[in-house]
Amino acid sequence: MSKKPVILTGLRANNELHIGNYFGALLPMVDMAKSKSSEYQINLFVPDLHSITTEIDYSKLQKQILTNLKVFVATGLPLDDSDVHIYRQSRISAHSELTWILDCFTGFGEMSRMTQFKDKKDESNEVSVGLFNYPVMMAADILLYGAEYVPVGDDQTQHLEFTRDIAQRINNKFGDIFAVPKPVAEQHKFFAKDQGLRIKDLANPDKKMSKSADSDKGVIFLQDSPDAAKGKVMSATTDSLNKVQYDTENQPGVSNLLEIYGLIKGKTAKEAEADFAGQTQYGEFKQAVADEVASFLENFQSKLAEVNEQAIMDKLEASETEMNTQASQTLLKVQKAIGLR
Ligand code: TYM
Repeated sequence: MSKKPVILTGLRANNELHIGNYFGALLPMVDMAKSKSSEYQINLFVPDLHSITTEIDYSKLQKQILTNLKVFVATGLPLDDSDVHIYRQSRISAHSELTWILDCFTGFGEMSRMTQFKDKKDESNEVSVGLFNYPVMMAADILLYGAEYVPVGDDQTQHLEFTRDIAQRINNKFGDIFAVPKPVAEQHKFFAKDQGLRIKDLANPDKKMSKSADSDKGVIFLQDSPDAAKGKVMSATTDSLNKVQYDTENQPGVSNLLEIYGLIKGKTAKEAEADFAGQTQYGEFKQAVADEVASFLENFQSKLAEVNEQAIMDKLEASETEMNTQASQTLLKVQKAIGLR
């Protein structure tokens, strides 16, 4: 494949996206697309097959897929760039086919150790085989395009490491089949401050912000009304130390708010801390964060309202044709190596 190196990421369409998804994966990806698309191929896709690993409202899935795509564009993804590709995983059958093959080279114990699986399995009574082998499909998503860099939040690090392991395992057995993504530490360096982020739930700052949280109180969705989001920030859990300090160990709630404030203002959490030097009242501090969050959402939502759906449909069609070609080439290589062709 004589093509540019690939930067790739996916965001599930189960629910509305929240600011953890936005700052952890979407924004770094879109920034890459804007600054690096002349050197790299940028793949931003909707892993719609991943959406059905747990029970969902299936009647909403189509709409949610389209909403995610619109969110990509509202974040600033340039659709008119021929090195930028958006696509739906289920439209490229090589994802499912390669998953099956990789499944057959993956250990049961290996998958059982995936922490995200362990967490989710404890949350629900029905655990599907799809949820269990979901990291294998994620590996297929990445390896089909030979992606070098994969901007994801910290919760996906273990899956990324698995992707490297399975690629190396196949390469050791069958020769040079897959391009192995860069080691996670190198990825962090490449994406600088935005990579490996873990925004916490506002109400429960010991847990990551997640769309599958028990309550929405601590989750700021990109489509929350600015007022509702303000309310969530104002009632965020803090502590009784009364100092605005970035200390994730002893002040997880305050540190998380500093992180969010900094991300919106384009500052590090440490720089954000300096904005509140000497502040001993959490009320004022929270108000400042709430105002930033509200104006960020207002701005984002007005961009979202302007997104042109037809432009997305046209781009999808072009990207999916091109990605089918690229993915099929990798799949064929694997099929030949293991004797299926
Ligand atoms: P998903 O859909 O759960 O989340 C999308 C992205 O958002 C990041 N993220 C966070 N980052 C910081 N703080 C948080 N609180 C937070 N919550 C979520 C996630 O790390 C992720 O990067 N398995 C993936 C989707 C996927 C994928 C792929 C990603 C499927 N195939 C191939 C990359 C490459 C997932 O469930 O992400």
